[in-house]
Amino acid sequence: MSIKPRKVAVVGTGLVGSSCAFSLVNQGVCEEVLMIDINEERALGEAMDLTHAVEYLPQRTKIYKSSYDQCGDVSAVIIAAGAPPKYGQTRLDTLEISARICTSIVEPIMKSGFNGCFIIVSNPVDIITYHVWKLSGLPRNQVMGTGTAIDSARFKTFISEYLDIDPRSIQGYAMGEHGDSQMVPWSHVYVGGKPFLKIMEQNPDTYGKINLDEIVSRVTKSGWDIVHRKGTTYYGIASAAVAVIKAIFHDEYKIMPASVILDGEYNEYNVATGVPAIISADGVKDIVEIEMTEDELYRFKKSNQVIREYIARLGY
Ligand code: 2OP
Repeated sequence: MSIKPRKVAVVGTGLVGSSCAFSLVNQGVCEEVLMIDINEERALGEAMDLTHAVEYLPQRTKIYKSSYDQCGDVSAVIIAAGAPPKYGQTRLDTLEISARICTSIVEPIMKSGFNGCFIIVSNPVDIITYHVWKLSGLPRNQVMGTGTAIDSARFKTFISEYLDIDPRSIQGYAMGEHGDSQMVPWSHVYVGGKPFLKIMEQNPDTYGKINLDEIVSRVTKSGWDIVHRKGTTYYGIASAAVAVIKAIFHDEYKIMPASVILDGEYNEYNVATGVPAIISADGVKDIVEIEMTEDELYRFKKSNQVIREYIARLGY
């Protein structure tokens, strides 16, 4: 009798992918990490470097360069390969090349007999999540993108700066596109169980001046604020991707924002978009439908329309 080691494949071992691998190993999430990249030397170098960290980490994790045909018994595949946007581009501008890269990844992985969960990080993440779902033929619960998970972390961080509260004590979600059209249903943002809008109302002098649209605009720009300073983001997005995997591997039934395929939820069909999802050993176990105001629902649907326009560009 032997316990089956849990394996995660990281496809694309650049800064985002290797940060995902480092986060997996640091948090002792799995027993094996497969590093896959068209630049095999890069994948091997990252695997070697990570292996040398094991001595000082919570558990032994085997990390090695691998290939798509070795994914048959892998539990989760993180797709972090793609073309980062050039200066002045948006995430949506990289769609064609990222979609092509994804096709070259998903087809061989499915040929290996893979039947685990895809976690997509590659941008534009909502459209790529939809593309991977279609390419893989897997049920929608096995395909999810980081979506607005990082945006939710960002808006909570900005609010926590006003309130001087741990961002983890703030509940709420950014929803829709992981991009410029995303929205935050402020009527569902709570601080330790108290509605944030109520806190603003009751403290007009201190919090009454907070401009909510400005916070969302700051969220949509913060990825670029980092890109312009260090070239790309990776710690926040890698932590979000690994949080999804931990929720799957530990069967957490954790509610967190993710880009998932809607099939009637929010009366939306055939689109991948950022919503609160219940993540368990089955992947996307369920989708939480929050009661939004009319205006919030309008913004959410408008954002989904943007996603649909780009999905259509892939010929779907
Ligand atoms: C971000 O916003 C990479 O799109 C990702 O950090």
